[in-house]
Amino acid sequence: MSGLRGKQRMHTWHLKTGNKMAILGIDIGGSGVKGAPVDTAAGELLAERHRVPTPQPSDVTSVVEAVAEVAAQFDGGFDRVGITFPGVVVDGVTRSAANVDKSWLDAPAARLFSDRLGKPVSVLNDADAAGVAEVAYGAGRDQSGLIMMLTFGTGIGSALFLDGTLIPNTEFGHLELDGHDAESKAADRAREQEDLSWEKWAHRVRNYLAHVEMLLSPRLFIIGGGVSKKADRWLPLIDIRTPMVPATLLNNAGIIGAARIAEIDGRAPDRDGVAPHEAGERVAG
Ligand code: BGC
Repeated sequence: MSGLRGKQRMHTWHLKTGNKMAILGIDIGGSGVKGAPVDTAAGELLAERHRVPTPQPSDVTSVVEAVAEVAAQFDGGFDRVGITFPGVVVDGVTRSAANVDKSWLDAPAARLFSDRLGKPVSVLNDADAAGVAEVAYGAGRDQSGLIMMLTFGTGIGSALFLDGTLIPNTEFGHLELDGHDAESKAADRAREQEDLSWEKWAHRVRNYLAHVEMLLSPRLFIIGGGVSKKADRWLPLIDIRTPMVPATLLNNAGIIGAARIAEIDGRAPDRDGVAPHEAGERVAG
């Protein structure tokens, strides 16, 4: 995209937000860093998203630069930024790095991004962000009780919600099942790497979901990640009691959920030094 087209687009989406707070959502994934301004009332992108490849290795300095490159396409025309990260994030500090460079362990991510972008930044786990988007605008909208989002991709991400409130940083992808880290057997990456048939892979996912169901008894599983686009191939093979639905926001859920969290953090005061999205602020509409 040329700079001029970017500026024109920025102008258009800024008009659409009127005088409301403008928010940029950025999703750091295994292969791409993607971002776009978001209409947090509708849960929709306000402009075509911009993507750059995730740097390899995905060390802190390189990823911060990739995020800055994405943000630069939208010309600073935003007040706050929400950013997803594929690991645990407490108080803006990244605490785990299962599928990214180990330099992220204990990195002050929110501060680093905020210093580089010159705006307030909220950072949260990628599955939490995707779940926030689904609960606020998608498959989990208007659902009460305990809802669980699971994303099947490079790893397995989890997000838990009680009555529209996020219980942050659950890591149910790393449950131990039959002596293995569950995501090493049941993530979509395992299906690809072991060249599993849909039936074989679905059998593993079924055992995994049955175990999570036994532990938590959620009212609904929302299934996200790339495999949710092919839900008809494998979802009918999963015979558990809990209802399951594929995610509806697909590729944009991370961007939209991150922006929603940045909005919430910008609106409500910290509670005893804890950001609102980690302190039980409602994320559903
Ligand atoms: C990480 C989670 C992440 C998930 C999906 C797991 O390996 O531990 O934090 O949400 O992958 O990216």
